[in-house]
Amino acid sequence: MIKLDYGNISVNKVGATHGLNLEQVFKDSEGRIRDIVSQMYAEKDQAGGWKRWLNLGYDQALADELNAYAQSVKGRFSDMVILGIGGSSLGGYALLRALLHPYWNQLSDAQRQGFPRYYFVENVDGDQINPLMEMLDPQRTLFVVISKSGTTAETMSAFMIAKDWLERKLPPEKVKEHIVAITDAKTGVLRPVADKEQYQTFEVPDDVGGRFSVFCAVGLLPAVLCGVSLAEIQNGIRDLDKVLQNPDLQQNPAAQGALIQYSLYERDKRISVFMPYSFRLASVSDWYVQLWAESLGKKTDLQGNTVHVGPTPVRAVGVTDQHSQVQLFNEGPFDKVFTFVSVGKPAQDIQIPANQFSDIEDLNYLNGKPMSQLMQAEFDSTRASITANQRPNMTLHLPQVDAYHVAQLLYLLEVQTAIAGALMGIDPFDQPGVELAKKYTYALMGRKGYENLVAEARGEKSAIGV
Ligand code: PA5
Repeated sequence: MIKLDYGNISVNKVGATHGLNLEQVFKDSEGRIRDIVSQMYAEKDQAGGWKRWLNLGYDQALADELNAYAQSVKGRFSDMVILGIGGSSLGGYALLRALLHPYWNQLSDAQRQGFPRYYFVENVDGDQINPLMEMLDPQRTLFVVISKSGTTAETMSAFMIAKDWLERKLPPEKVKEHIVAITDAKTGVLRPVADKEQYQTFEVPDDVGGRFSVFCAVGLLPAVLCGVSLAEIQNGIRDLDKVLQNPDLQQNPAAQGALIQYSLYERDKRISVFMPYSFRLASVSDWYVQLWAESLGKKTDLQGNTVHVGPTPVRAVGVTDQHSQVQLFNEGPFDKVFTFVSVGKPAQDIQIPANQFSDIEDLNYLNGKPMSQLMQAEFDSTRASITANQRPNMTLHLPQVDAYHVAQLLYLLEVQTAIAGALMGIDPFDQPGVELAKKYTYALMGRKGYENLVAEARGEKSAIGV
């Protein structure tokens, strides 16, 4: 099971100025946490509450449906292109990066056991799409278009390009076999298109928002199409969920993480650094950044007061960032709280040869040691230096990077985010702050009904009337 170690948050470890008196903080907030956790789980089936993601680990019908489709196309496609952005792509990418061979796309068909290579298209850049299309064989390519709303310009423009490409390359009756759509069950633009064209479809369930959608078809379809076990993912979630449902703060690591982050934010530590010590987990940092930023960065609280709150998430990867950001982390402003992820056992270890440079004293301490020992030593020492420099930090311990534990990591972070949102008194499930730029884009691209925003979007007219 995943474990949270928050010892280095306490005043004993990082001093009274930057640490928390954890006993006091926990005592003061026990009741509030009890209410938040109880209410969150009580509302998990409530329409309009955006908490149905709490049910996804238990959805056997979803797993059966995805497994059946994956089985039906096994060996049929050599390449899979996922078209989506934000919550419709980052979770799936984080799962695949964590759970597949790190150089999956370079493996032969036999080494991939007939599962496809994968590509995520999440930008509107010809420099991403053109070279990719040039490499693909239309006969052997599957496009998975993921958009809950179906109106996302980035995703839908890429989908138009992909559909047109397939239509030019394949007989008309074959095109639909190469497209899967994941979208809202009833609403949105993509659903009627998919129904009319008879695409295979999967749902983004009601009340599951983009950044909380990794455990529905949005993240699970790309995973199962590459051979990841959905049973292991759902087992991991269910086992952890028993712990996270507990409203007792002393027993609930997601509540502890949320409370610590919130309490430090209130003490002006407004930056939340996420730093897994694992090559495979690098993209979990990107996923965390979106989850934390889009959920918690809000102008108004639940009462409608203007509050402008939100911790700034920072992506880091250990050990790589020790030679990039750690200088700042150790000596820069005291405005950060750190979450490290340490991994008990790498999927593959490798030994540093014993016979290289044995006559060079500055290097011979490395001789014969496993890389995992060096990784562990670098993690321990960086964490110790961060602590010695009075920077509060927590560690999530993952026994190993596999489907069971990676699912627990992502799920714990989702629950932590929801609880942090409740502590901050904001709605973590909406994202009104991205709307204005979307409207300006519509205006600049000539969408009907947005003509009055063209001058503002071009910067020719002030939006704030100055
Ligand atoms: O987390 C979110 O809600 C967003 O990041 C969305 O996932 C993103 O905007 C894509 O939306 P859609 O799935 O409607 O295309």
